[in-house]
Amino acid sequence: MKAIEIRNKYLNFFQAHGHKVIPSAPLIPENDPSVLFTTAGMQPLVPYLLGEKHPEGTRITDYQKCVRTNDIDEVGDNRHLTYFEMLGNWSLGDYFKEEAIEMSYEFLTKELRIDPSKLSVTCFAGDGDAPRDMVAAEAWKKAGIPEDRIYFYGKDNNWWIAGEEGPCGPDTEMFLDTGKPACSPNCGPDCDCGKYVEIWNNVFMEYYKSKDGSISKLKQQNVDTGLGLERMAMLLQGKETPFDIELFVPVMEKLKELAKVDDIESRRIVTEHLRSSMMITADGGRPSNIDRGYVLRRLIRRMTRHLNKLQIDLNELSNLIDLYVETLKELYPELVEKKEIIKEVIVTEKDKFVKTLANGEREFNKVVEKAKRENKTIIDGYTIFKLYETYGFPPEVTSDLAKEQGFEIEMVEFDKLFKEHQEKSRLGSEQKFKGGLAEQNEQTTKYHTATHLLNAALKEVISKDIHQKGSNITTERMRFDFSCDHKLTDEEKQKVEDLVNEWIKQDLPVTIQTMKKEDAVQSGAECMFIEKYPDEVTVYTIGTVSKEICGGPHVTHTGELGHFSIKKEEASSAGVRRIKAVLSD
Ligand code: SER
Repeated sequence: MKAIEIRNKYLNFFQAHGHKVIPSAPLIPENDPSVLFTTAGMQPLVPYLLGEKHPEGTRITDYQKCVRTNDIDEVGDNRHLTYFEMLGNWSLGDYFKEEAIEMSYEFLTKELRIDPSKLSVTCFAGDGDAPRDMVAAEAWKKAGIPEDRIYFYGKDNNWWIAGEEGPCGPDTEMFLDTGKPACSPNCGPDCDCGKYVEIWNNVFMEYYKSKDGSISKLKQQNVDTGLGLERMAMLLQGKETPFDIELFVPVMEKLKELAKVDDIESRRIVTEHLRSSMMITADGGRPSNIDRGYVLRRLIRRMTRHLNKLQIDLNELSNLIDLYVETLKELYPELVEKKEIIKEVIVTEKDKFVKTLANGEREFNKVVEKAKRENKTIIDGYTIFKLYETYGFPPEVTSDLAKEQGFEIEMVEFDKLFKEHQEKSRLGSEQKFKGGLAEQNEQTTKYHTATHLLNAALKEVISKDIHQKGSNITTERMRFDFSCDHKLTDEEKQKVEDLVNEWIKQDLPVTIQTMKKEDAVQSGAECMFIEKYPDEVTVYTIGTVSKEICGGPHVTHTGELGHFSIKKEEASSAGVRRIKAVLSD
């Protein structure tokens, strides 16, 4: 059964059971800066799960476009996708467990004609927050699932919440037995050996988890369900991977035809990331260096790298987008309408990345020259990491080029640095998902970075002996105190301001390193009161213009700062001057 048929059957089935079909919300959440993308069908419905009246009533069904990027680096294997479609039905204080389970069973066995003997289900085992879900288990038994295929698990498996806070509750999940042999006597739906594949989740949302971790009852008992379309299509079509279904096959095959290298992982990455990038762009996403824009940038860059790896002419990108629009237009008619803008955004970003690669190659050549002069035969991990971090130069490209030039590469140190770097960005994005960086913090973060640039510009324009004496930041402005024996002239102020703006324009990367305090000082990192810092310090480096010991936080690229202007320069105390400055768009 094709994906479009599954979707239509689903919406028709629930419509026939009294549900109103609502359109998919955009991938980019409206009025919700706290999440990067819509990650589940329930997300746009949160106010109604909490009790607000939905204009369409208490029974809702839809297909929802979703992006989940936690596993972006896993894409290329036989199952991970960043973009996927979730089919869902909701009871907003209407039916509860019995009816939800009855409908799920009927849809799976009658509409999709799944053999009931291949179905297993899981229910919540119970704990201090909610009882063992015997109601769900009984409903499954009544529907036709024998007891030995009803499993009970704890919160790790059978409790659902988006993030840390919000509506939540025990869930019951449906699994299809693929017929593969059990990996051990204990193999069950919670095992990821591949025997059992999760196909649908019914969450019984009658609780609310607050920030402090406490759980309370919601005003109403809701049902929130989610069924992944691509996975269901794959199973019903008897395919091993989602890349073998009709939504991906035309592009996968075209890539095979165009490629000079046979690499299925790269073909999957290009196929997956191109679809995700197209869907995000169609819903208004644009590449940038922060948040959702950065996710889109990463997707397009990774795709470009793998097109290169396959040795496919990058000018083919536009044709691949045409082919995808043709393939997906029935599911997503918006792609037809947005085709030109999608092309423009993705091709422009690809071109930018090609330039980044060229710059990185120049830097790489310098590294090689130096290594040759020093009679080295190995490119060390730190250098590979720096090329990656400062110029966005991918390590696999460094590795290929190094080998071509007869060098060995040392990846252990690189892997260590890369893992630390990833961990930092992961923590960053989790934070973002949990609470959302308030606008205010984004603004103060920018000002933090601006103080580093101002400090560096003063040294450059006026004197190396200038040192920071203090600073104060609000969302509105920054204040910066520094040692200086004279009032700055208008010309000096102008030069300082211009230099900061020049660095902003250059979009310099801001990178973070952790090191021993002595090493930081040794390496020339600036700091205000060295004795105040612990033995391990974080050092922020901005391109080649600034290096300071600092606790952060900072932006990732200076381009995010906007325009810098000095508003005032005055005396603060003897030998100390004070600058007030603002950032604007
Ligand atoms: N919210 C649940 C999920 O994402 C069910 O829709 O799995």
